[in-house]
Order: sequence, then structure tokens, then C-alpha cells
Amino acid sequence: MRRTGIVWICVWLLGAGLILADVAAAQAPSAASIAIGGRLYDNWWKEGAGKAPTGDHPMWARQSTNKGKGATTWRCKECHGWDYRGKDGVYGSGSHFTGFPGITSVNARSVDQSLKMLTDPSHGFVSIVNGTHGTHLVNFLKHGLVDLSTVIDRKTKKPVKADEARGKQSFALCAGCHGPDGKLRNFGKPDDPEYVGTVARENPWEFVHKVRFGQPGSNPPMPSGIDLGWSLEDVLNILAYSQTLPEK
Ligand code: HEC
Ligand code: HEC
Repeated sequence: MRRTGIVWICVWLLGAGLILADVAAAQAPSAASIAIGGRLYDNWWKEGAGKAPTGDHPMWARQSTNKGKGATTWRCKECHGWDYRGKDGVYGSGSHFTGFPGITSVNARSVDQSLKMLTDPSHGFVSIVNGTHGTHLVNFLKHGLVDLSTVIDRKTKKPVKADEARGKQSFALCAGCHGPDGKLRNFGKPDDPEYVGTVARENPWEFVHKVRFGQPGSNPPMPSGIDLGWSLEDVLNILAYSQTLPEK
């Protein structure tokens, strides 16, 4: 009698455990989904969420400092920044300045509130949100954002703390596509080249975003660091090593 009692308790505990594990799985989205969301934030039409828009974004006329035009004005990053801090971050000055806010307080909002805000006529992202892309975008907003202001020195553009030797080890993966010196692919023009080393030094915030989430629509597809299980620390190590690579 006592034995069967214990067996039943065990079965019950196992069942409860499975239910809890299920709830946890439902709450934590997959790294792959967060990564797609990150690439949508970078450039949603290159990530396959519709056609590149032709005119300016409806909110673009609210500002006159950023002279960008057309499709560029529809990239999330163009208004909210690679550091997700908008006017309070790196885009608080320079040619990308718009005065638009950051998105770091998004965690205080529910998923529904975030989706509603994106489909609001001022934002106008109805077609993106009404597909599976909306879920990926919200997963990125809720689980993919990191605070880069404390880990990258704004003046020197260097990681505050990083292990360059470990970064060099991880760079072996990048070297397969970008070459050991990062110069195999030129993202700029033939007479004004831009390599891994250039992006790492000039825009470490963009570098971190792209290494964490991948490059939208790239061929071959660039892997996403969070998909590979890399922590922010791992990515900062790669940044430190990449800043030693040639710029030109
Ligand atoms: C043309 C500029 C612009 C673009 C492009 C843009 N936003 Fe926004 N976003 C804003 C402005 C301005 C606000 C502030 C709310 C308002 O004025 O309507 C905002 C607010 C937000 C907020 C809420 C911030 C908060 O805490 O209140 C989030 C999250 C957000 N945007 C995400 C996105 C995402 C994701 C994309 C890309 C799919 C995007 N935005 C594209 C201008 C833009
Ligand atoms: C499977 C191949 C592949 C791997 C591996 C890879 N990349 Fe890429 N990466 C690409 C492609 C393709 C592009 C887009 C190139 C283009 O636009 O000309 C790209 C773009 C980039 C860009 C952005 C260029 C820009 O300004 O738009 C950076 C920075 C970059 N890679 C760094 C890295 C780093 C660092 C690693 C290792 C963590 C890495 N990549 C691994 C294929 C790869």
C-alpha cells in the first residue's frame, strides 16, 4: 500500500515537472526566432518580409537632420540605432541623428502592446507583423536586446573588457567566408573598401548586432552567434580581435 502511494507521488511529480518544462519552453523562444527578428530589425525586406518600400517612412518628415531617403528610412535600425538607444545612444549625433527614441524600455510592454505599436498607422508595419515575422520581431525585442553602453567605450569604440586570444580562436569560423585577414569580401566599393576590420573599428555596435544575429539575405547565409550559443562576451572577444585586422 505504502509503496503504491510513493509510486503515485513520483508519477505526479514527473507530470508536474513535464508541465513546468512545457511552460518554460513556451516562454523562451528559440534562438533561431530571435535571430530572424534581429535580422528583420537590420533590414526586413532583405530578410524576406516584403518588398523594399520606395517612398519615405511616414514619420520621417518629423525630422530634418538625417538626410537619408526612401527604403533606408524604413529600417528599424535607422531610427532606433544599432545600440537600440535612439537619440540617447550613438545616433544622438552625426549624420544618422533623428531625435527618435530608443527601444530599450520595450520590456516593460506586453507582446500584444508591442505588436499593436508596430501596426499603428505612424509605424505602419502591418504587413510585417501580420505574418510569422511579427512573432520573430517581438521575440527579438523582448529577448534579443542587450545594453552595449556599458560594454563598448563610446570614445575609443573598443570593448571595455575582452579576451582577444579567445576572439582569434572563434574568428576561425569567420575566416572561412571572410578570409584570415577579413578582406575576402568587400562590403564597400572597389576604390573605398570596407572589410570586417573596417566595420569592427568604425561601427562596433553594428558589428556586434550582425555577429549576434547574422547578415540579412546574405549569400552564403552568415551564421548567427546566438544560434551558435555565443554569449555577448564571446562576441565582444571577436570584436576585439577583429579590430586588429586591416581596415583598407
Ligand atoms: C522612421 C522612424 C522609425 C522607424 C523606421 C521605426 N520606428 Fe519604432 N518608433 C519610432 C518613433 C518616433 C517611436 C516613438 C513612438 C511614436 O512617436 O509613435 C517609435 C517607437 C518604437 C518602440 C517603442 C519604444 C518605447 O519604449 O516606447 C519600439 C519597440 C519600436 N519603435 C520598434 C520598432 C521596430 C521593431 C521597427 C522596425 C520594424 C521600428 N520601430 C521602425 C520611429 C521609427
Ligand atoms: C558562411 C559564410 C559567412 C560566415 C561564416 C561569416 N560571414 Fe560575415 N558575411 C557573409 C556574407 C555573405 C556577408 C555579406 C557580404 C556583402 O554584403 O557583400 C557578410 C557580412 C558581414 C558583415 C557586415 C558587412 C556590412 O557592413 O554590411 C560583417 C561585419 C561580418 N560579415 C562579419 C563576420 C564575422 C565577424 C564572422 C564570424 C563571427 C562572420 N562574418 C561569419 C558571410 C559569412
